[in-house]
Amino acid sequence: MKFFVDTADTAEIADLAETGLLDGVTTNPSLVMKAGRDFKEVVTEICGLVEGPVSAEVVALDHDGMMREAETLRRIADNVCIKVPLTIDGLKSCKKLTEDGTMVNVTLCFSANQALLAAKAGATFVSPFVGRHDDNGFDGMKLIDDIRLIYDNYAYDTQILVASIRHPIHLLESARIGADVATMPPSVIRGLFKHVLTDQGIAAFLKDWEATGQSIG
Ligand code: E4P
Repeated sequence: MKFFVDTADTAEIADLAETGLLDGVTTNPSLVMKAGRDFKEVVTEICGLVEGPVSAEVVALDHDGMMREAETLRRIADNVCIKVPLTIDGLKSCKKLTEDGTMVNVTLCFSANQALLAAKAGATFVSPFVGRHDDNGFDGMKLIDDIRLIYDNYAYDTQILVASIRHPIHLLESARIGADVATMPPSVIRGLFKHVLTDQGIAAFLKDWEATGQSIG
């Protein structure tokens, strides 16, 4: 399973990339606003920090505008993945861009039928938003389950990129279902490393080690 971090904070990305566990990055206009930096500058920097796909979202709503913005963004680096919304114009752009070999992440997916459309449009990734789905009284994980089933039925190559992850259980269930990618806020990634018994175990081992009076090299 691939792990992407969902942020435009380059210090966080650089730090997490050092673990060697980071396979890519997703950004969106809200995350860029939060970072408070120039969009193209920040995408350029992120593309230098990770080798994997870096999703950069278009903001135009019409096909021509999306294609124009995608052209600007894909020139930034080879690992830029153009993020388009799940609309008719978004999917038209997705088809055109992927035919040219550009990676595309179709975002704001909230139904299995929408995910089917994204796969038919040749999307590299589809981003179902589980947290926002849950927030609105739907079952985010059922959505992932349905998309997995449909993609496997027809052997679609589109990768399921679980987005809007709020906590480690979302990741656990995504992995059980067999989602291809999870994009998580830095805090959720950091939380995955933690377990109270790991901390207690280290403390107990260190205490006993001290009592031996030894040192390792
Ligand atoms: C995904 O690509 C989105 O940027 C993101 O996961 C949205 O998450 P949110 O619902 O926490 O804003």
